[in-house]
Amino acid sequence: MSRIAVRRFGILTSGGDCPGLNAAIRGVAKAASGVYGMEIVGISNGYRGLIEGDARDLAPDDFSGILTRGGTILGSSREKPFKPSDDAGELKDSEVGHDKPELILENYARLSLDALVVLGGNGTNTTAHLLAKQGLNVVGLPKTIDNDIWGTDVTFGFHSAVDIATEAIDRLHSTAHSHNRVMVIELMGHKAGWLALYAGVAGGGDVILIPELPYDPASVARDIEARRAEGKQFSIVVVAEGAMSREEAAMPKKERKRLREGMPYPSIGYRVAAEIQAATGMETRVTVLGYLQRGGTPSPYDRVLATSFGTAAAELLARGRFGRMVAMRDSGVTSVPLSEVADKTKTIPADHYMIGTARLVGTCFGDAR
Ligand code: F6P
Repeated sequence: MSRIAVRRFGILTSGGDCPGLNAAIRGVAKAASGVYGMEIVGISNGYRGLIEGDARDLAPDDFSGILTRGGTILGSSREKPFKPSDDAGELKDSEVGHDKPELILENYARLSLDALVVLGGNGTNTTAHLLAKQGLNVVGLPKTIDNDIWGTDVTFGFHSAVDIATEAIDRLHSTAHSHNRVMVIELMGHKAGWLALYAGVAGGGDVILIPELPYDPASVARDIEARRAEGKQFSIVVVAEGAMSREEAAMPKKERKRLREGMPYPSIGYRVAAEIQAATGMETRVTVLGYLQRGGTPSPYDRVLATSFGTAAAELLARGRFGRMVAMRDSGVTSVPLSEVADKTKTIPADHYMIGTARLVGTCFGDAR
């Protein structure tokens, strides 16, 4: 066997948690430790732990029995080491006089790390790329319920969230039908509509509103009234948290933010519900699914995907292939340069087949002229 490039590496989880993180940690650790004899250092709370030197050696018992556990045994944070400190909260006394990347490089050396494995979303893998440019040997894994990471067809966490959201939509159907109501369910997804699109199709949503297709409230109302004219006295409206109206989409970001700050709605789902009720006179109710989409045990699909991504990361370490993120491309596990992933968000292409599928079963996206 050729020389193994890595003897000892650190692993951290960063950004929003999701089902599958522990499955991925287990995949990396079992392969790296069991097959390649590598030492593993668990870093607490994302990049914050690397800045503070909050780390400990992991033993096999630490990553045994965690395949089905939600969350992350390492903890997480949204620390962005390369952003000015005033963006990410006050620097701690220990950090004054040092900038965060410098502290990371110091702790990377102090912990005698040959490499660093990071499990995270867009921001995490962008930071990974910047650290790679500083000379660290970094491997990234694509984690998020949003499925919005460039370079991979799918992220782990996404399918579990689709399962959770779909079950919620199924449950809303029965109560909407019983009370002849319009039920609006707001889903996560950050600036992309993947979660709302897939759960909306899986749950038979009548209306799906996503950021990629800015909506016209009048178009949504027309569709719901057309359903009522056909005798369907209820509708299910699935709204991505990043959805916006056509009017808003035409505005500069700051103006859009000001417009929303002047509205009496805590989030887009409530606004869409108010628009529907005002236009149609139908009783409308709102469910914001929130953090339920990030909690609990991973789906079997995500357990398999996260394990595959984890073992692939261990292979990259063993071969000394750094500066890359593990990815799923055309149903195969591969890797892509972090330089291609950094600073990008994968949104839904207008011609994506799933949008076509939804339209063919009569789904309204609120974009009909
Ligand atoms: O990126 C995952 C995600 O759940 C997004 O869908 C959501 O907008 C965001 O995290 C919520 O962030 P936080 O956990 O910091 O409230």
